[in-house]
Amino acid sequence: MKIDGKQYRSIWLAEDTTSIHIFNQEKLPYEFEILTLSTMEQAAEAIVSMKVRGAPLIGCVGAYGMAFAMSLDNSDESIERAYQVLVETRPTAINLKWALDRVCARLRAVSPEQRLAVAYEEANIICDEDAEINHNIGLNGLEIIREIAAKKAPGETVNILTHCNAGWLATVDWGTATAPMYLAHNEGIKIHVWVDETRPRNQGALTSFELGGHGVPHTLIADNAGGHLMQHGEVDLVIVGTDRVTARGDVCNKIGTYLKALAANANQVPFYVALPSPTIDPTVWDGVKEIPIEQRNGREQSHVQGIDANGQRSFVDIAPTGTPCGNYAFDVTPAELVTGLITEKGVCAANNDALKAMFPEIMQG
Ligand code: MRU
Repeated sequence: MKIDGKQYRSIWLAEDTTSIHIFNQEKLPYEFEILTLSTMEQAAEAIVSMKVRGAPLIGCVGAYGMAFAMSLDNSDESIERAYQVLVETRPTAINLKWALDRVCARLRAVSPEQRLAVAYEEANIICDEDAEINHNIGLNGLEIIREIAAKKAPGETVNILTHCNAGWLATVDWGTATAPMYLAHNEGIKIHVWVDETRPRNQGALTSFELGGHGVPHTLIADNAGGHLMQHGEVDLVIVGTDRVTARGDVCNKIGTYLKALAANANQVPFYVALPSPTIDPTVWDGVKEIPIEQRNGREQSHVQGIDANGQRSFVDIAPTGTPCGNYAFDVTPAELVTGLITEKGVCAANNDALKAMFPEIMQG
């Protein structure tokens, strides 16, 4: 996708073909900074600090982290050590573990001398696959938007609400929830996106940055506004991303997603979740009970980031000094509240039978 008219992916190999480049998402959209990562420790730090974020993208960075580790030490012990460090960086999104497992399975199957090349090869494949998967999610989600547009008066706008940033910055390209929006906009369907600000880290600003860069009409709203808009018929559908989908179709996503799903259900607004298949965790059934929910530093809650009067990026304390803060990063939306799962293979119901039918290789594996 584009920034200032220039085509980018959110992660790419540097000219030396061993380091990777990423956007520093801690600073976006206020400052544009491209970082270079070349060690496993740098990859881990980038994930923890959320310089890179979004379930698919942290999986990709984790995969390159394994390659960085292999460049220094290609032993069995090094594989296990790097895996442990990387897998513990963020606990909720399953894509990270999925990518690390995938790279490690290949590394364990080859001789130490082959491991460096194999790790890079697998990381590159994972990234390319992600871009392709998301494009296919876009095509499948586009069908839903087309159907809704067809029921409206000619030229009437389709209003879509989204939460967090499940855009191209959270993936390698296209995004998951945003891919159908970009494709609908590209083919001339009149859409408008309600973008939840997504406190405490305001990923909605990233979504606004993305949609704005692509010319998609959108409005940034407070997290509490969605229910009101739904009551007044201002939301035709919700599309969000996810960090983990359980075997029965529960959906874990950014904190606040559950409240949007409740409001959508109460107002008969379709609530769709866009996901690449690596986000499915067949080992977990009950998302509320079983998915570990990341709790982050309370400073993310007590402070907001923005641009000050001097044009400098700065943080402002918005709570009385010393206020205890709870910072739960994700919540779980029970499957019953989900209208459908938009995947790279098609749209399916959020239940075990439908997931098994669409992804037998994952659900039985
Ligand atoms: O904490 P973040 O910013 O990594 O959370 C991201 C989300 O919750 C996204 O909605 C999810 O990862 C889907 S990204 C395609």
